[in-house]
Amino acid sequence: MISNEQIDELVAAARSAKERAYAPYSRFRVGAAVLVGGRIFVGANIENASYPLSVCAERNAVAAAVIAGERRIDAVAVSTDESEPTPPCGGCRQVLNEFGPAMRVISEGADAKRADWSLSELLPHAFGPEDLGVDRPT
Ligand code: THU
Repeated sequence: MISNEQIDELVAAARSAKERAYAPYSRFRVGAAVLVGGRIFVGANIENASYPLSVCAERNAVAAAVIAGERRIDAVAVSTDESEPTPPCGGCRQVLNEFGPAMRVISEGADAKRADWSLSELLPHAFGPEDLGVDRPT
């Protein structure tokens, strides 16, 4: 069970990571933080002059957790400066699903306005490891 304090800490980490976004083209800054057990890993969007090579905040946070040896993500928080909380893009939903199909997804926009979903709500009938006969990472 994830406590409200953990969620607040996760959202604060995403908000802080957003400050390190590199988004000179879209000027759409995104910060993300993933919770794994008690550990938090952060990411921000990093764009590129060759636009398709830009990487979303959520995927960078997932990469940080996986490189640290983690395989099961309990929750992800996203932070943007938009008035409405931004949900993760479709590609990021797919990447998040790999490491926690039941994870909580919290998003915070400007004025600390929050939305809260489950990943299965955002990505129903997901394609995952089991569809390839591969066990989910533990
Ligand atoms: N972006 C993210 O970082 N996460 C999302 O879920 C949506 C989009 C980034 C990609 C790009 O740098 C900018 O936001 C505008 O699409």
